[in-house]
Amino acid sequence: MRIVILGSGRGSNAEAILLAQQAGRLGRARVVQIFSDKPAAGILALGPRFGVPAQFVDPAPFKTKLEGEGEARFIAAIRACAPDLVVLAGFMRVLKPGFLDAFAGKIINLHPSLLPQFPGLDGIGQAFRAGVKVTGCTVHYVTLEVDAGKIIEQAPVPVVPGETLETLTAKVHAAEHALLPAVIARLSEAMP
Ligand code: GAR
Repeated sequence: MRIVILGSGRGSNAEAILLAQQAGRLGRARVVQIFSDKPAAGILALGPRFGVPAQFVDPAPFKTKLEGEGEARFIAAIRACAPDLVVLAGFMRVLKPGFLDAFAGKIINLHPSLLPQFPGLDGIGQAFRAGVKVTGCTVHYVTLEVDAGKIIEQAPVPVVPGETLETLTAKVHAAEHALLPAVIARLSEAMP
């Protein structure tokens, strides 16, 4: 199972996937490429470290969505990798029908809350401020409606007395780092 990872940030989840692969815990999945819409994103530094091609793709002209020329550039770059699965690991752009149709049923996203609660930006902060007793993270298929596609798997994280946003953030991230590689491994084993 050929995996392409897209991310905009530090790439700790991409790192967790690559560490799982190194340790033989990624099933039949193999990361073939990393792409970022941010030229200085930490996720791109994982490429040389793990021996995986990592490349910036210009997302212009839009700031928060992937549409038009930027979308076409991403589609062409990803298609050239012939992926079986496109993994959004902190890719902070709204995807449009052109992209979703190009990789129909093959795009999964990681979100830092127990969807359908707290979709959109800052899922951890939203949950913390709402005062919930349990939050967590979700891996789901990507559809046109943001953070609303079919849920594949979730991991709960309890919010304990005295919790701060910082401690909760660290716990949710740790849960993400375990969940996403496990889901990818499971999907790869289920692939024909
Ligand atoms: C993760 O917490 C992920 O759930 C979140 O971005 C972070 C990326 O961290 N994604 C979203 O909020 C998507 N709506 P990373 O760059 O260290 O993997």
